[in-house]
Amino acid sequence: MTLSIKSADQLKELPNESELNFGTLFSDHMFNMDYNPEKGWHNPRIEPYHAFSMDPSTMVLHYGQSIFEGLKAFKTPSGGVNLFRPRENFKRFNRSARKLCIPELDEGFALEGLVELLKLEKRWVPGVPGTSLYIRPTIIATDPFLGVRASYTYRFFIILSPVGAYYKEGFNPVKIWVTDKHVRAVRGGMGEVKTAGNYAASLYAGEEAHHNGYTQVLWLDGVELKYIEEVGSMNIFFVIDNELVTPSLSGSILSGITRDTVIRLAKKWDLPVTERRIAIDELVDHYEAGRLQEAFGSGTAAVISPVGEIKYKDKNMAVGDGSVGPLAKRFFDAITDIQYGRAEDPENWVLPLETA
Ligand code: COI
Repeated sequence: MTLSIKSADQLKELPNESELNFGTLFSDHMFNMDYNPEKGWHNPRIEPYHAFSMDPSTMVLHYGQSIFEGLKAFKTPSGGVNLFRPRENFKRFNRSARKLCIPELDEGFALEGLVELLKLEKRWVPGVPGTSLYIRPTIIATDPFLGVRASYTYRFFIILSPVGAYYKEGFNPVKIWVTDKHVRAVRGGMGEVKTAGNYAASLYAGEEAHHNGYTQVLWLDGVELKYIEEVGSMNIFFVIDNELVTPSLSGSILSGITRDTVIRLAKKWDLPVTERRIAIDELVDHYEAGRLQEAFGSGTAAVISPVGEIKYKDKNMAVGDGSVGPLAKRFFDAITDIQYGRAEDPENWVLPLETA
């Protein structure tokens, strides 16, 4: 398959890098590719960033058959551009595709398409500390049809957005709200899949959390409302009695790439790390006994996000002393140093654009 490239006639003005927030600005070009049963995935092309025109009956608008990924490109001290574990994103993209009855992509080709897009959009990778170019590969169902079935046709696109911190708190601790009324996903459902519906399902409880002064919701399992799952925009870690603990992948939790990176680093550093079921009541007991030392989230958008307060029913648990915990800081520094090319990368997690 040959990739065609059509450049924009006029380029946008670059934003002020010190004022970047998350997901509001988009670069000059995008990648597009289509699927139909006759041709399979075909017509890969880089084009000027543009709006889609869609029939109002387009299936994705009605039944939510869509999947996405999130990864980032980082500017290195020498002006190069690094991707972080991008193959893992495309592997997960295909796992999501299978669950949503979307035809799988050639992962290598999808990555090549992204690399070509990034080569064209290099000037959009910001260099101010804490900024990066967020990459959003997405597939949507495009049949104009109102019956409920898997679509026969699809659009795969990649858009790029220069970003700063995901939370307005930046690297300062966020406050999270444990909901005991709403659930995000159940076992056997879509919880582990990066699909639009999971995020739509999180909005109502998210509004409730915001209304009460909390940044995000910490979800409990959808069956018993007992076991801690994830935050929705990130996975969650606790430091309990000097042990790093995170909920095991139950099928309703997203298999985060940053989560995996934290676990691998912890093992390398000989820190005790356990993936297991953690009941919210157990967490409260640890808190009350003074054993809950730290809590932090991990995610591509959030990186490492310290948690300063957890609210569950009438319990307001202040974690640590309200500042960034030492382990959250250690993971944040180690991961970002590798991503930005400031540290050795013994695991070959980084894919420099120049060598891709
Ligand atoms: C990410 O971390 O990339 C995510 O996809 C989470 C969120 C922005 C939806």
